[in-house]
Amino acid sequence: MKKFKNFWKNKRVLITGINGFIGSNLAKYLLKNNAKIYGIERKIDKKTLLYYEKLNKNIKLFLGDITDLSLIKRIINEENINHIFHLAAQVEVGVAMKYPFSTFESNIRGTYTILEAARTSSERINSIIVASSDKSYGEYPNSKLPYKENYSLNPKFFYDTSKACADMISKSYASNPKKPLPIIITRFANIFGPGQMNFSALIPDCIRSSLKYSIFEPRGNGKDTRDFLFVEDVAEIYEILARELSLNKKLSGEIFNAGTNEIFKIEDIIKKIYIKNKNKKDLTEILLKLPTKKTEGEIKNQLMNYDKLYKFFKWQPKTTFDKGLEKTINWYKKFLKYDSNNFTSSQ
Ligand SMILES: NC(=O)c1ccc[n+]([C@@H]2O[C@H](COP(=O)([O-])OP(=O)(O)OC[C@H]3O[C@@H](n4cnc5c(N)ncnc54)[C@H](O)[C@@H]3O)[C@@H](O)[C@H]2O)c1
Repeated sequence: MKKFKNFWKNKRVLITGINGFIGSNLAKYLLKNNAKIYGIERKIDKKTLLYYEKLNKNIKLFLGDITDLSLIKRIINEENINHIFHLAAQVEVGVAMKYPFSTFESNIRGTYTILEAARTSSERINSIIVASSDKSYGEYPNSKLPYKENYSLNPKFFYDTSKACADMISKSYASNPKKPLPIIITRFANIFGPGQMNFSALIPDCIRSSLKYSIFEPRGNGKDTRDFLFVEDVAEIYEILARELSLNKKLSGEIFNAGTNEIFKIEDIIKKIYIKNKNKKDLTEILLKLPTKKTEGEIKNQLMNYDKLYKFFKWQPKTTFDKGLEKTINWYKKFLKYDSNNFTSSQ
């Protein structure tokens, strides 16, 4: 990082999904490196890291939808955008099951709208990073884990399919012989950290309920396994990929997985969080409930590693799961207190 200390200075960066979990953490990271950040948010939501940590004050935000081609073109051209991180998506698995159409609109149409705007813009786009997901791979037998970048995409459920479509569309924009776009696609494991407001995700859900702000309703029997990347490590990977792609267009079309290659049972994560937050009473009840639950519409076991990222850029995770969890819990303790004093009663 030090070697490229000034790379981001005054670079004009568009982040879609900036008001979301990863987008806001990435914006924070790039602001520290003096980039000029532009973002698209669908609606103003002040109960987010972007507003809570006042990052919005240093970002030019546009209200709108990523499926609005003329809006995206206008932003790219008028703001002279050089780098795009496309993170906006409908990410809730349960919402995707109920509303596949709108999930496909945001995740698939949203992606080709961003890429089409970049393709037809008069600006020189130096890098586009598209967030795909480990879910694009679909289910593979345990003997085939961790996933490798050359595995074929085999999704079944709506969210997974929407990410796989966006992934393949991105690949074709990168491969277009007429005007190839410089695109890298990322397929990351589950990500956790401060600012994840999707409380249907396991870690924020457990933190909030173990601190007694809500009641935890298990979605499955706790036996499925996942690995988890800390969001600050993710921001670092995004930074490296965009910078390296700008300097070496041969990287265009590359796909990078990332995970820690450390496998956790969902049940053990629940235990860890409740024990850290000293709430053994509720934990006992949850553990009794788990065997009666059945997971629906989700892949059973997922595992990623970072072999390719290490091979190309010597990247490896900096944050252990326990360290990341401690930082995350501390953030939510403050945020939830602030939230209950400032929002909950009046909204
Ligand atoms: N969180 C994870 O564990 C994880 C893991 C792998 C990949 N990803 C991918 O990373 C990206 C970011 O995920 P996140 O966890 O930050 O999600 P998030 O829900 O916190 O953020 C997504 C943002 O996109 C916005 N958005 C959705 N549809 C939109 C539309 N049509 N127009 C404008 N904005 C729209 C949402 O309002 C939200 O602010 C997603 O593409 C997701 O698929 C996430």
